[in-house]
Amino acid sequence: MTTDSAQRKILVTSALPYANGSIHLGHLVEYIQTDIWVRFQRQRGHRCTWVWADDAHGTPIMLKAQELGISAEQLIADVKAEHEADFNDFLLSYDNFYSTHSPENRYFAELIYTRLRDGGHIERRTIKQLYDPQENMFLPDRFVKGTCPQCGAEDQYGDNCEKCSATYDATELKNPRSVVSGATPELRDSEQFFVKLKDFEPMLRKWVDSGKLQPEIRNKLEEWFENGLQDWDISRNAPYWGFEIPDAPGKYFYVWLDAPIGYMASHKNLCERTGDDFDSYWKADSDAEMYHFIGKDIAYFHTLFWPAILNGAGFREPSAVFCHGFLTVDGAKMSKSRGTFIKARTYLDHLDPEYLRYYFAAKLNNRVEDIDLNLEDFVTRVNSDLVGKVVNIASRTAGFISKTFDGKLAEALPEPALYAEFVDAGEEIAADYESRQFGQAMRKIMALADKANQYIADAEPWVLIKNDETRASVQGISTQGLNLYRVLVNYLKPVLPDLAAKTEALFGAGELNWDSTREPLLGTSILRFKPMLKRLETDTINKMTDASKEDLAAAAKPATGPLADDPIKDTIDYGDFDKVDLRVAKIVNAAHVEGADKLLQLTLDLGGETRNVFAGIKSAYQPEDLIGKLTVMVANLAPRKMRFGLSEGMVLAAGPGGKDLFILNPDQGAEPGMRVK
Ligand code: 2FM
Ligand code: ZN
Repeated sequence: MTTDSAQRKILVTSALPYANGSIHLGHLVEYIQTDIWVRFQRQRGHRCTWVWADDAHGTPIMLKAQELGISAEQLIADVKAEHEADFNDFLLSYDNFYSTHSPENRYFAELIYTRLRDGGHIERRTIKQLYDPQENMFLPDRFVKGTCPQCGAEDQYGDNCEKCSATYDATELKNPRSVVSGATPELRDSEQFFVKLKDFEPMLRKWVDSGKLQPEIRNKLEEWFENGLQDWDISRNAPYWGFEIPDAPGKYFYVWLDAPIGYMASHKNLCERTGDDFDSYWKADSDAEMYHFIGKDIAYFHTLFWPAILNGAGFREPSAVFCHGFLTVDGAKMSKSRGTFIKARTYLDHLDPEYLRYYFAAKLNNRVEDIDLNLEDFVTRVNSDLVGKVVNIASRTAGFISKTFDGKLAEALPEPALYAEFVDAGEEIAADYESRQFGQAMRKIMALADKANQYIADAEPWVLIKNDETRASVQGISTQGLNLYRVLVNYLKPVLPDLAAKTEALFGAGELNWDSTREPLLGTSILRFKPMLKRLETDTINKMTDASKEDLAAAAKPATGPLADDPIKDTIDYGDFDKVDLRVAKIVNAAHVEGADKLLQLTLDLGGETRNVFAGIKSAYQPEDLIGKLTVMVANLAPRKMRFGLSEGMVLAAGPGGKDLFILNPDQGAEPGMRVK
């Protein structure tokens, strides 16, 4: 099945996306990179399992849920469903996508913590933390705002600066204030739990030396060792959204403790379903390989903390950590106003996922470099490589086989040496995939595609087909072309699984499995060729970037909560708003309206002036309950003639409808006629 001697047992993870936002193209660099590698390993016959999850804990998630007026559990369930839909539509072939807010994760977080504690690797220490004296609570980083200690930007959170990306301790903020009450926080003593990272320095040094880390990451680690390893605070005070520390009520595990443990939890959850042997992957002397695909910004967590806590708890360390750089679009950071902050779903609404999978593959290597999605180059490359080179080989030859040779391939290749050359290239291309040199692999495959096209161009089957004496040779030429195409699609299968599936169907000879193209297909039948990949039009890209600008307008609109179904209308300028005269009015009379299902007739006292208004609040109120109550009304709405009479204004009530329509509470100092600000 494979030229690799033994079947490897490989466990792969991607970084866990936070459960408070949508997936965008920046995330997808990593997920596509992981997917290509995983699919490649499976295609070579190895057992490669990919597990990951949503990163569901931490203050930002708690705050987001509060903002939406839903529970954190609801938020993470909604976001998980959205994330998985995106992943499936991008053809990601993961085995399990789970959540860090899971019983398995709680179990492993507690287990690892307890083992570290019992091994003497946890120290309780009292430190100074910011405290809100009005609300009587310690303030998590995100509950404090102030001036960035690095660049002086105002209104920055207590963990990092959005302007200059500096990370710092909340206590370093200048002019801090509590987000909850606005009070100036005080420094108070608070007991926290620290992992003594220094205990693990010898082990980490050994791991770095024996591991397969990228040179850039090794250098970084050397730097970190030289600067001295700092103890790591793994606890947070309530209120916090996460797991409570078992022997410390009111203290929670910091999200970054249980996030990587989520890899384990997801794998455990999968093994429970499949019966696979979890321990054989995670035990200290495991012979399985384990790799984490991550972005360069989270290398510290994965190359120091993570191997250290695994080791301290008696588990194996990762075989390697594969770091990639960030994505830029058209040479710049993704930008909402330029429409280059493109969400996964927006992309999918306009474009085929395989275009992006190919483009990223063509750009990716195994270094920690940023990659650029140049939208013009994207169009050119997809069209010239995939449509113009690869699929073109089949579309130029398959028609002859169907129309003239009854769908049958020839019994022999006219150029077996050329075919052999394509087969022989397979091992080098495989080595490129293995070492995550996807760009190099794509270049080699495209060079072969050029050769195949050259062969067809030189043979000129469209000329030969017209002549009775030469017509028969077209079957061989087309068979040669189609077999070369099949080899190339085999090599592209980790990147283009859909194209591979269509190609497999065309030939009807089973799944492509790297070595399955060692021998050409001869004398067999093929299906009628159908177009496999459309050309990419620049116009479609423009539509996508325009829609991304619209996403920005809708950014205020959450995925759940009242605004999801009833989005806020287009903005009006202040002048328009200022024209609306809102006044408090007293309901002096209310009555049913004959023949109206929803309306009540209200008589409103505006403090000297009386108005007749028909209001659609019958579902929530009996007329008699309204009399004497106050409401806010639009006092300068032009009178409208209704079926039942003239309506002289509009009553404002809040709520989803039905029984829940709320008007103003009386007796709170409001008086009829008073302007509402
Ligand atoms: O940086 C992030 O987006 C984190 N949610 C990644 C976590 S990866 C792992 F450690 F869980
Ligand atoms: Zn700053």
